[in-house]
Order: sequence, then C-alpha cells, then structure tokens
Amino acid sequence: MRITVKALMELAVIVRKHSGIVLKKNKAYLLENRLQPLIEEYSLSSFEDLIAKANDSSQLTNHIVDLMTTNETSFFRDKRPYALLKEKLLPDWQVNWGQARGHLNIWSCACSTGQEVYSIAITLMEYFKENFINHNIKVKASDISDSAIVKASRGQYSNYEVSRGLNAVQLKRYFTREDANWKIRDELGSMVHFEKMNLLQPKVEYKKFDIIFCRNVAIYFSKTDRQRLFQSLSLCLNKNGVLIIGATESLFDIHKKWKRVDYNGTAYYILK
Ligand SMILES: C[S@@+](CC[C@H](N)C(=O)[O-])C[C@H]1O[C@@H](n2cnc3c(N)ncnc32)[C@H](O)[C@@H]1O
Repeated sequence: MRITVKALMELAVIVRKHSGIVLKKNKAYLLENRLQPLIEEYSLSSFEDLIAKANDSSQLTNHIVDLMTTNETSFFRDKRPYALLKEKLLPDWQVNWGQARGHLNIWSCACSTGQEVYSIAITLMEYFKENFINHNIKVKASDISDSAIVKASRGQYSNYEVSRGLNAVQLKRYFTREDANWKIRDELGSMVHFEKMNLLQPKVEYKKFDIIFCRNVAIYFSKTDRQRLFQSLSLCLNKNGVLIIGATESLFDIHKKWKRVDYNGTAYYILK
C-alpha cells in the first residue's frame, strides 16, 4: 500500500511529537514498510485510518514510534569509547573521586537492544576484576522503544549478534548457551537497571551520573531537540561527570556548556 504525501507528513508529525525523531519526505518507503503490518494488525484499510486511530490511542502511537526507531547497534560499537572508559575514565574516577563519593553511576540513555550497556558492564568487570563487588556501581539503561527494552532486559542474543563485537573469551566468560542463543550471565545482567524513557521528556535525576553514554540517537533529532536533550543531560551529570556521544556526532554549535576533551582518537565532553 502506498502512502500519500499528506499521510506521510501527518505520521511524521506524530512520530516527531512523541519521540523527536525527524522523518523526511524521502522516508516514504520506510514508513510504508514498517507501518503496513500495523494496518493489517488493526484491520484498517489505509494510512489515513491509522492516523485517525493513533490520534485516539496512546498505545497505537507508542507502537508507531517503536516501529519507526532505528535500533542498529552492536557490542563494543566503535571500540574507542570502551578503551576510553577502561584506560582513562575509570582510573580517573578511582583516583580522584571514587573514595570520596563511594559510588559510580553510569547511564546508557538510548541503549537500544542492550549491546551498548552490556559492553559497559563487561568493561567494568574487566577493569575492577575481583574488586568489583567492593565498589558501589550502578548502571542504568533506557530507551524509548518498548521492544528494544524488552530484548535488552532479556539479555539474549543470536550467534550473529554476538559475532558483532565480542571475542571468544568474552563470549565464554560473560554468556551462557541457551538453545540457539547466548544469554548474558546473571552477574552482569543484575548490574543493569532497565527503564523505558523518552529523552525529550526525561526524568531528570539531578547531578546523579558520573558517566552518560548518549550515542547515535541525537542524529535523528532536529537541532532544537538536540539542544533540549543536551541541556537536560547537563542537569543529570555531576561535577566532573563525562558525556560520551557517537563517533560521528558533535556538540559543536549545540550548547556552550560543554567542553570537548580529545583522548586517543576519540573524544568526550565535560561541563565547563
Ligand atoms: C541507533 S540506536 C543507538 C543504540 C546505541 N546507543 C548505539 O550507539 O549502539 C538509537 C536508539 O535511540 C532510541 N531513541 C530514539 N528516539 C529516542 C528518544 N526520544 N528517547 C529515547 N530513546 C530514543 C531508539 O529507540 C534506538 O534504540
């Protein structure tokens, strides 16, 4: 079924209003492919019917947003943020603030299906080793997509998914075989607290986090929404806290509050 320009624009408004995700006119094929099954599921006959129903149903709106999110991710994606964490941020935290604060709070705020946050958890395990339990470490992971959060909290991945970024030693050490899949071990799984959250209507946990991963999500937003997002993240980060964004992203011209720090071929941001 083809989508009309008018229906496309109206669906783009719904998706943007409820997630910040900007859908351009050239995304007609994407809307058609992803939302056609929904028209069948709800026994509707057109995209116009879908819009009318979505305007009356927050459940359907959520479903539309969920289907329009792009959940592409992998374990240790881009590698360098995890080297940064292990070689610089965790040693700095331990030497400078660990003792005084007594806790380490990390947030993966667009965690998709969980590979990012489990890569963080593995890095923490590899860094702290058997001393891990002596530190009060909390890791939070959130995403707007219901289906992504369900998969992330299940912590179960296919052969193909684990082949993207994990080496054989990590797979053996941190996962167990479950039928045809691999399941994250409980000691890692229990470290992470998952939550559904829209970054444009965030629950601001004032100055709570030492490190925030906000990678490969702001690229889908308008400049105004990117500014809103990084403003609210600035409130959630504590003094000396660190923000890590995607390899192709930048906070240049977004917010004057942030200072970029280069490290070994990657970069992170701190509050000025
Ligand atoms: C491309 S994935 C990035 C996953 C991971 N951070 C990484 O870099 O591999 C983008 C994620 O952002 C989520 N997302 C999009 N809009 C969002 C919003 N308004 N609030 C929270 N998450 C959002 C999507 O559901 C998707 O899982």
